[in-house]
Amino acid sequence: MCLSDFCKRSIERNPIEGKAAIDYLKKSRQNWVVQIATDALRLRNCADVEAISQVHHTIVIDELENTNYLLRIFTRISQDVNAALEQRSNYNQRIALKAVADNLNVQLENFNRSNNKYASFFLPFARRWLNIINRYLEELAIKVEQNKEIDNPYIIGVPLTLEQAIFVGRDDIGLRIEKLLLDRRRPPLLLYGQRRMGKTSLLNNIGKLLPNSIIPMFVDLQGPLTSASDYTGLLYNLARGMTTSAKQQSALTLPSLTREILADDPFTKFDEWLDEVEQTLEQNTVLLMLDEFESLDAAINKGRFDEEDVLGMLRHLIQHRPRFKMLLAGSHTIEEYQRWASYLINVQVVHISYLKEEEARKLIAEPVKDFTLRYEPDAVERVLQLTHCHPFLVQLLCGEITVLKNEQDPSVRRLATLADVEAAIPEALQSGGFFFADIQNNQVDANGGDILRFIAAQGEGAIVSKQILSQQFPDMWETTIQLLLQRELIEEVAEGYRFQVELIRRWFNKPS
Ligand SMILES: Nc1ncnc2c1ncn2[C@@H]1O[C@H](COP(=O)(O)OP(=O)(O)OP(=O)(O)O)[C@@H](O)[C@H]1O
Ligand SMILES: [Mg+2]
Repeated sequence: MCLSDFCKRSIERNPIEGKAAIDYLKKSRQNWVVQIATDALRLRNCADVEAISQVHHTIVIDELENTNYLLRIFTRISQDVNAALEQRSNYNQRIALKAVADNLNVQLENFNRSNNKYASFFLPFARRWLNIINRYLEELAIKVEQNKEIDNPYIIGVPLTLEQAIFVGRDDIGLRIEKLLLDRRRPPLLLYGQRRMGKTSLLNNIGKLLPNSIIPMFVDLQGPLTSASDYTGLLYNLARGMTTSAKQQSALTLPSLTREILADDPFTKFDEWLDEVEQTLEQNTVLLMLDEFESLDAAINKGRFDEEDVLGMLRHLIQHRPRFKMLLAGSHTIEEYQRWASYLINVQVVHISYLKEEEARKLIAEPVKDFTLRYEPDAVERVLQLTHCHPFLVQLLCGEITVLKNEQDPSVRRLATLADVEAAIPEALQSGGFFFADIQNNQVDANGGDILRFIAAQGEGAIVSKQILSQQFPDMWETTIQLLLQRELIEEVAEGYRFQVELIRRWFNKPS
């Protein structure tokens, strides 16, 4: 049965007539048609982006009807609009909404070509949504210009993806990785760096830094992969991560591998799948990057997987598949994870640390093309001093400076001064609280916290001598200092120690 023409026309025309049509259908007891008509009316009634962003809560998708496919598209668009409106800055809101509009454009094509009999019925609503979103994008652009508002491009807390223009530098690390990949002994690599130093961002962007003959495949070991309940789930998620990444980074389609195939004999089937993958590679090699390797260790510790099964499989892959190179990433050294050391022989460590000064300067002064905030020279120097070129902290502080500038009078809005940088510090300590608390709670022990607070209390740039530390903390200072050095929180200078990063010192000097 087709949705009655009467109802269809009414809904397309206006909400009141549409409601009358639904009442008419109700009387004729055509329940599922009533449902479609009600959903359609909801889509039709969305008059602005806010309404679009909320409508996914009310769309009913039942399993029976073949309108589901179409309704799912609307639901997804509504959720994406919702996520876009939650972006803090107009800049990121516009980027996210532009992506939704592009997606909706593709969907319009699909609707046009679809042989789903309801597609043409839903097509006008999709067009209507696209118009609303495009209009809103234009309004945003005008608003930004009128207010001299600065587009805030900074991204805090999530790794940078391939599409984000705000990724800077790391060419030296790219070169080092490239060189190590040529090593005939095929050593596994460990990308080691402190929390939030940019490991995942680098791996997401590594394709830009390596030659095309190396196909990067990024897999996050945290999440579904290591929380899988058996080897089928583990290997399925590994293959899925590799497939998605190959598609995104190199437009390469890998052979499919289903759970059903794996379930039979997971490790053998996975190995056979790798044979098939190798055949699609032509002359290229794969860089298999496993991020957050500590998660897999934790899963082994919990007894979810057997050490020999899983790490043995990785060792086998390294030793017997020359077309695959392996890179692990994490914030611990292999020495801290002894069991890995015995499987991954001859690991080469690639250290990722602070940005180079010129990279950090770029992130401050020209994070994206046409950035409209200018800095006075001493303000730039102060950001460099406070952050020590830590990528996360530069983004955090500059993000707060931009927010603060946008609250000021338009006449002074587009020039950041030293006073602005100082004023943004408390905000940065507050909004980056999760980063600083992680240092205290997860990276150092109680003794480490005590020593850090003691050094922090001596003031900016203060060096605390070994003698003073041994008097203050007679029992434990030497071992604890080793831990703090290893975590790159302090550095050794002229017979003493000081904080590497002023912002971190500030946080440890805050009254608790
Ligand atoms: N190359 C870069 N250019 C600009 N900003 C960067 C860069 N690398 C990292 N950042 C900033 O640092 C933040 C943290 O990066 P990322 O999540 O990649 O670090 P990570 O080392 O993987 O952290 P974790 O240890 O928590 O997994 C990003 O959200 C971004 O703001
Ligand atoms: Mg990461």
